[in-house]
Amino acid sequence: MDSDFESYISHCQQRINRALELALQGSNSPYCSIPTQQHTQELFAAMHYSVMNGGKRVRPLLFYAAAQALDEGVDVTGNNTTDLDQLGCALEFIHSYSLVHDDLPAMDDDDLRRGKPSCHRAFNEATAILCADALQAEAFALICATSLDPSVKVALVRELAGAAGARGMVGGQAIDLAAVGQNIDVAHLQSMHQLKTGALIRASVAMGAIAAGGSKEQLAALDTYALDIGLAFQVRDDILDIESDTATLGKAQGADLALGKPTYPALLGMKGAKEKLRELYEDALSSLESFDGQALRLRQLADFIIQRRH
Ligand code: IPE
Ligand code: IPE
Ligand code: MG
Ligand code: MG
Ligand code: MG
Repeated sequence: MDSDFESYISHCQQRINRALELALQGSNSPYCSIPTQQHTQELFAAMHYSVMNGGKRVRPLLFYAAAQALDEGVDVTGNNTTDLDQLGCALEFIHSYSLVHDDLPAMDDDDLRRGKPSCHRAFNEATAILCADALQAEAFALICATSLDPSVKVALVRELAGAAGARGMVGGQAIDLAAVGQNIDVAHLQSMHQLKTGALIRASVAMGAIAAGGSKEQLAALDTYALDIGLAFQVRDDILDIESDTATLGKAQGADLALGKPTYPALLGMKGAKEKLRELYEDALSSLESFDGQALRLRQLADFIIQRRH
């Protein structure tokens, strides 16, 4: 990885981690007095555990990069937490919630996540379910608490809700569970991956573009990039499930195979899956042709996503 990009990524990761800590502290709520909060400490501990545990923060990274592609005034170098950071946190809260549920015994039944016991193993199943429920609601509260124009906030909430819901990530997870042990074709697999992983990645890019005040045309061009990169992200995940190891992944290697999950390598073979990954990468880059050097970070993130080792 280019050293300038490496320091960009690590700076943005530190930035979002700082903002996530603040977001988890939350603010006073009329619904919850301090004594009541003392009885929900385990819930808050589970939320902190599931968010502050070394995620790559790819969705906030894509979000920042999309905003930077459209607005040269977007500055991710300062130390103060901004509205933009808060939107990145909303994306990471939804993503972290999806992982907590994904690992539950009723879903993928995984004991390891980001190199540590998954939430239901560190706490218990009920706490994991509630922790994820809470993160989902808090994500939308974070968007509402920004000082952005109300019409922009509504557009952002609409984008994130659409990507997270039954016609987005949750729908994809439902297809995934129904497809276990089934012989599905590539079109079916593609739509599953586009929803379960691609939708939130698309929303990350779209929210960056909306926050930066992008035009309809700019949003459409960035969306074709995000569609390809979102699918590529899950194709790479499927490849790593076979080729990597548990220590590097921070989650159980071979989990897809053990559960009989349909994946790109299972359907196309490893060579076919890698060819598909390369094709998606090239298509994603060509969607950025109308953008100038300001889209550098989006180009570099495409590279990062297809080459990532965990
Ligand atoms: C893992 O996502 C789940 C998928 C959608 C494939 P990431 O690979 O982004 O996981 P973290 O956030 O870095 O742990
Ligand atoms: C995860 O897909 C998708 C979501 C969490 C929405 P996977 O089940 O492949 O993710 P990992 O491999 O457990 O991280
Ligand atoms: Mg899963
Ligand atoms: Mg899983
Ligand atoms: Mg996986």
